[in-house]
Amino acid sequence: MTTTVPVPLAANAYDVVIGNGLLADLSQSVRAAAPSRVVVITDAHVAPLHAEEVARELGARVITVPAGEDSKSIATLDRVYGELLAPRDLDRSAMIVALGGGVVGDLAGFAAATLLRGIRCVQVPTTLLAMVDSSVGGKTAVNHATGKNLIGAFHQPAGVFCDLRYLHTLPQREYVSGLAEVVKTAAIGDSGLLELLESDVIALLQAQPAALAPVVAACVRFKAGVVADDERETTGRRAMLNFGHTVGHALETLFPGRWLHGEAVSIGMMSALRLSQRRAGLPDDDAHRVERLLRAFGLPESVPPEIETFELGATILGDKKRDGGGVRFVVLRDLGQPELLACAVDDALLRILMGYGDA
Ligand SMILES: NC(=O)c1ccc[n+]([C@@H]2O[C@H](COP(=O)([O-])OP(=O)(O)OC[C@H]3O[C@@H](n4cnc5c(N)ncnc54)[C@H](O)[C@@H]3O)[C@@H](O)[C@H]2O)c1
Repeated sequence: MTTTVPVPLAANAYDVVIGNGLLADLSQSVRAAAPSRVVVITDAHVAPLHAEEVARELGARVITVPAGEDSKSIATLDRVYGELLAPRDLDRSAMIVALGGGVVGDLAGFAAATLLRGIRCVQVPTTLLAMVDSSVGGKTAVNHATGKNLIGAFHQPAGVFCDLRYLHTLPQREYVSGLAEVVKTAAIGDSGLLELLESDVIALLQAQPAALAPVVAACVRFKAGVVADDERETTGRRAMLNFGHTVGHALETLFPGRWLHGEAVSIGMMSALRLSQRRAGLPDDDAHRVERLLRAFGLPESVPPEIETFELGATILGDKKRDGGGVRFVVLRDLGQPELLACAVDDALLRILMGYGDA
């Protein structure tokens, strides 16, 4: 059974299709779009597992980039432009299919946004994170020496196909890291989703399609709603998706490579929940529900003790969501009620974020 979630944008509406085995649906949709050529962009882990089948079905050629965040670079992008353009067979009705996790989605999406002033891109996410988050919403980017995602464009995909089959080859740690973004969606937006997660922890840890499909659909529905309200991140609604990300980003900066993104966000959500309890009136029972879920999925929860409070503070102040001398955190007044809270970065704040008691 497949589920289709529309992303109702005025100028760039598209559908996200979720199911277990979507090759025929993908093929039908690409054919209906009648592209002059199709190019699949993928990475070196996904290519041997899944690219040949997709390329054969779509009659596409394949471009493979190295796996990992380093591929979201101007150097790799330049190589991709070269491989796209060298055969001289592309025109503006060509189509890119981004087959991979968020790295491939962001890189291939940006290549599509800029090649020949913009060609169509279909996103075929192969990680849980990419299914529930990065493939929907049209944010595309590569990194720059001065920071992550600094060279980018909004370029909505022509369609998104979340085929749960791909998750069977995804390393478990990557999969569980994606569950952190699922818990984030449940905390900021969807109490029905929170109940769904609580009722099916084991099946979800095993990525059983019957349990996972409604969860992915709920996340996509939520993200589609946020994107439809705030397509280009101008109204502030899209900023709510950053729940847990301020501390999460700081940890990723302080210890590059130690945590996967979702793992860092899990620790960041624990901090944001404590801040919400102390400064936004989030009832303890609600905070504990989210904490229990993160724990049940085996996600990390504590800021490591070797981090000094001043280091965390300085790194957070380097984060881009600054407001005067302080930082704006996404906090929860209630489950599903996120809001921005401006906080001075002082000892009291840092003790809450680190999980220490009062001084
Ligand atoms: N555009 C957005 O809105 C948005 C949102 C969130 C994150 N992101 C970006 O997403 C990126 C992270 O994405 P990610 O977590 O998917 O990482 P990723 O793309 O690096 O994938 C994680 C790892 O899993 C491998 N992999 C992917 N699918 C596989 C499969 N089915 N089987 C086996 N191996 C597989 C990849 O090769 C890689 O080694 C970051 O660059 C982040 O900035 C973008």
